[in-house]
Amino acid sequence: MGAISYGTNSEKFNSKGYVADPEDKTQKYVVCAHFMKTFCLCLFMVVITFSLGLAVVTLSPKLQAIKERGHMEKAAERVLNISNPTPTEYSYLNRMQSSKRFVLQGGVVQWARYRANPAHYDTKEERAFGESIHSNGARMTASTLEIKPNGCRVPHWHFNANEHGYLAKGTMWIGILDSAPFAVTSYNVTVGQVIFLPRATLHWMKCVGRDTCLFILFFTTSDELVTRDVDDVFYATPQDIAARSLKPKGGINFIKSFKKPKENQAVNLPPNLNELVHKASYTRSKINQVSKYFFNLKASRQYKYPGGIIQWARYTKKKTGLPWVERIFAKSLNEHEDTVTMATMRIFRRGMRQPHYHFNAHTMGYVLRGCGRVGVDNNATEFQIRSGDVFFFPRGIQHYIKNVGKGDLFMVIAFSTHDELQTLDMNIYFQSTADFILAQLFLKKQEEFHKIPTFKQDQDINLP
Ligand SMILES: *[C@@H]1O[C@H](CO)[C@@H](O)[C@H](O)[C@H]1NC(C)=O
Ligand SMILES: *[C@@H]1O[C@H](CO)[C@@H](O)[C@H](O)[C@H]1NC(C)=O
Ligand SMILES: *[C@@H]1O[C@H](CO)[C@@H](O)[C@H](O)[C@H]1NC(C)=O
Repeated sequence: MGAISYGTNSEKFNSKGYVADPEDKTQKYVVCAHFMKTFCLCLFMVVITFSLGLAVVTLSPKLQAIKERGHMEKAAERVLNISNPTPTEYSYLNRMQSSKRFVLQGGVVQWARYRANPAHYDTKEERAFGESIHSNGARMTASTLEIKPNGCRVPHWHFNANEHGYLAKGTMWIGILDSAPFAVTSYNVTVGQVIFLPRATLHWMKCVGRDTCLFILFFTTSDELVTRDVDDVFYATPQDIAARSLKPKGGINFIKSFKKPKENQAVNLPPNLNELVHKASYTRSKINQVSKYFFNLKASRQYKYPGGIIQWARYTKKKTGLPWVERIFAKSLNEHEDTVTMATMRIFRRGMRQPHYHFNAHTMGYVLRGCGRVGVDNNATEFQIRSGDVFFFPRGIQHYIKNVGKGDLFMVIAFSTHDELQTLDMNIYFQSTADFILAQLFLKKQEEFHKIPTFKQDQDINLP
């Protein structure tokens, strides 16, 4: 492109150059050859300047346009990757299982999240998901935290999010230091239980069983999560200040004896742990204290449907008939800002969570077992989900989940409300809308709508 432009330029230059020749012939009629020479030179310069100017004026917008177009195409390709556009499903789906594994000494962390700097995404699919949860204001970020036996997620706090989690494997001993009166609440969490760690409470987790632990976590932000680990804060504090604060025996020399390791300690497992730790006591706090942060979801009431089972860790307006530990947990969720309602959903083989939407919550879920087909009403987007996937449904968007595997489809789901979740299923809104309105809407005889039956049992998860 550039070479061609320059070619045109020099052609123009030459043709104007020839114009100077006839002028030369007038020379003999002129007394002062010197004057003429100067005049010619000046004229020549003027012509050159003019033609160059003309070339610049006529060509530069084109060059500019060409340059801009190239630039925009590249940018567009970076954003959309025209050769391989991102399917709309990635607004609702993150294959977290195959995302980047942040490997630390004591475990592995993976994310389905928003990044403020787009260059920090590893794939365009992750970016589509991250931008979707951010632009929808999902107030949720998903993560898995896998910890080896004896590994520890070291004491830390989150500036901008509550942490909710479902323990899928192992036994995890958790300590929480909430605001005054600064009593540590500690508890052994076992498989099928959920945790709620309010924003800014200091907490730690240690995998205490023989098996590797796996947490499915939901942080209640769709900005970037901001976290501070205690060791980082300590090493960032001037030694004399730390000595003055802690007043240890040995003074500042004791503080100076702390050596910051090269490796990130976020999830640590020192090889010489047995030398370091002689006596560990994993106690349990009083149950009414524990119940503010922990709930045995697996043992809670099962809501049974023809095609599956749902269990809840949530706030409800209903005050009677709930076990008192559940009432404490529900109250704690409701009293804090930006908490989530959690649930497990088991869909039996051939079962389907029928089309529905939520009035007051976004939905984010993690597939623990099985495989399903998900549909979202936006542009009739349909996609498969399988173990390790994270899905997201913005508030108000109708969606369904169908089990297409051989066994149960089992999911952990978080709904972004600290209030009672409000949901409307497709069969309910058909049955609740007057048949003459449906007739007018669908251009079908009124009687036809009597073919849609009502059932005694709730059909939230149904069978064919
Ligand atoms: C676009 O996608 C193709 C195929 O996945 C890949 O080879 C290419 O590098 C991508 N281009 C950009 C600019 O990301
Ligand atoms: C917690 O689990 C650990 C490891 O299984 C066990 O040693 C400890 O006694 C448990 N603590 C309580 C209070 O159940
Ligand atoms: C639906 O598809 C249309 C046309 O392809 C597009 O402009 C629109 O943004 C899509 N809507 C969503 C929510 O993806």
